Amino acid sequence: TLKLGILASGNGSNFEAIMDAIEDSRLNAKVNVVVCNNPGANVLERAAKWSIPTVLLNHREFASREVLDQAIVDTLVQHDVGWVIMAGWMRRVTQHLIDAFSGRLLNIHPSLLPSFPGLHAVQQALDAGVQLAGCTVHYVELAVDSGPIIMQAAVPVLAGDTEASLQSRIQVQEHRIYPAAIALAAHAHFTKTS
Ligand code: GAR
Repeated sequence: TLKLGILASGNGSNFEAIMDAIEDSRLNAKVNVVVCNNPGANVLERAAKWSIPTVLLNHREFASREVLDQAIVDTLVQHDVGWVIMAGWMRRVTQHLIDAFSGRLLNIHPSLLPSFPGLHAVQQALDAGVQLAGCTVHYVELAVDSGPIIMQAAVPVLAGDTEASLQSRIQVQEHRIYPAAIALAAHAHFTKTS
């Protein structure tokens, strides 16, 4: 059973999809803690509904990214977390977090990386006029939205799409692939030879 720590900044629909996957045994895991940087984020209510402990680490109250990430690592260690799942985590991470959970730190991004990293990825795709958009689950490296890709899903961009309509088509796929990608990464980790 994987011991997950979720880092989330906002709505938390990916957190919810992971909980649903655990609930119906598509993912053999347990969420030990949800760490959130925004007071009032919907993910806090979702976690409470599932009786998952939440820790609010408001980045505005930390002197630097390094100090915030130190507090995040301490929190994750205190909650006996083995794998860190960034699910709508909208802060850049430091080497500190990466080193502490090397090979067990995953992110999801709403584009077919390496296209459209960073903020407003869905609007970036619309602006570029691509006909295929999608989402990517990847291991986290220091550069924003970079690192080895674990799983992707593509969706069509349809005539008349808005950022909201394309985002919701992408999110259906996010909710499908994130639990599967976590299971795949764990499988790869635990069957690694040499
Ligand atoms: C997701 O679409 C995720 O891909 C994106 O934020 C959304 C969070 O939704 N993440 C990024 O843009 C990271 N660069 P959620 O809070 O409902 O899971």
